[in-house]
Amino acid sequence: MRRPVFAAFGTACVLLLQGCAGWQSALDPKGPAASELAWLIWFFTGLCALIWLLVMIALAAPLAMRSRTRSDPLVLDPGAEHRKARAVWTALAATTVILIGLTLLSFFANRTLAAIGSDAELTIRVTGHQWWWEVRYEDAQPSRILTTANEIHIPSGEPVRIIVTSTDVIHSFWVPSLAGKLDLIPGHENVLDLMADKPGVYRGQCAEFCGQQHANMSTLIIAEPRPVFDAWLNDQLRSAAAPISAEASAGAELFLNRACVMCHKIGGTVAGGTVAPDLTHIASRQTLAAGTLTMSRGNLAAWIADPQGIKPGAHMPVVDLNGDELNAIVAYLEGLK
Ligand code: CUA
Repeated sequence: MRRPVFAAFGTACVLLLQGCAGWQSALDPKGPAASELAWLIWFFTGLCALIWLLVMIALAAPLAMRSRTRSDPLVLDPGAEHRKARAVWTALAATTVILIGLTLLSFFANRTLAAIGSDAELTIRVTGHQWWWEVRYEDAQPSRILTTANEIHIPSGEPVRIIVTSTDVIHSFWVPSLAGKLDLIPGHENVLDLMADKPGVYRGQCAEFCGQQHANMSTLIIAEPRPVFDAWLNDQLRSAAAPISAEASAGAELFLNRACVMCHKIGGTVAGGTVAPDLTHIASRQTLAAGTLTMSRGNLAAWIADPQGIKPGAHMPVVDLNGDELNAIVAYLEGLK
């Protein structure tokens, strides 16, 4: 009987610990901000566990010593009273020192976090929408300002300043492997500095309940060496690729004459909507609908045909298309690398 119980417990522990690693874990830091926070988490948890243990021992000890009862419980023992008073005062002093110590630790951690991006070259503006992320790369030259969605490329090994805000409700930007979470507040800008030590893909998730599709509001941070990042940025700044097949041309024609253009932008075409994700290079992204689906021809078609079935409540409406029209639009979007 015991063995299966132990085996089940062991398996559960291993599975739980497995959750501590990977591309979305505050306990598996991949940058200085996350490392600072991970250190704080472990220190606070360790110290609090130790204090809990001491309190439990202090509670249990008198029970264990009950056998040594005095003959007359009403007789005062000045020595014992003195020891009790001393224990209480010691505990009080220790509590004060620990509280002040922890406060100082979090104060200095905050200072470290704030210093990470003080000389950041790259500023990215992330705006929360129900339920996707608008991502804008700032630049002194207006022609080099890039707007994209849901996936954030950054150069690895460099601090990046992220300015967050929202257009509708409060969202929260959280990429646990790289930094702490920060709220996106309508009409207000917050600043989050982060850095990825090494190239990699890190997953982020909206961390503030923001409506029906809060759970399907994720993002990917893709950290790349500087030359790769620069090449990506230059690629993304180009206008959309022209359709290369008859089917894709028909798709472009359909896209530009349907309601799609009211919400979406495709650089270099008349589609100039800004209330939904920019599609100029949609096929270069790894996911669709803010991480809801992986990017593929089938998922593109599924998303356009039935957005409300895939992400109920999303602002993407159903556009009336027959099978051929749907295929043509997908062929066009698939070419927008
Ligand atoms: Cu946006 Cu939760």
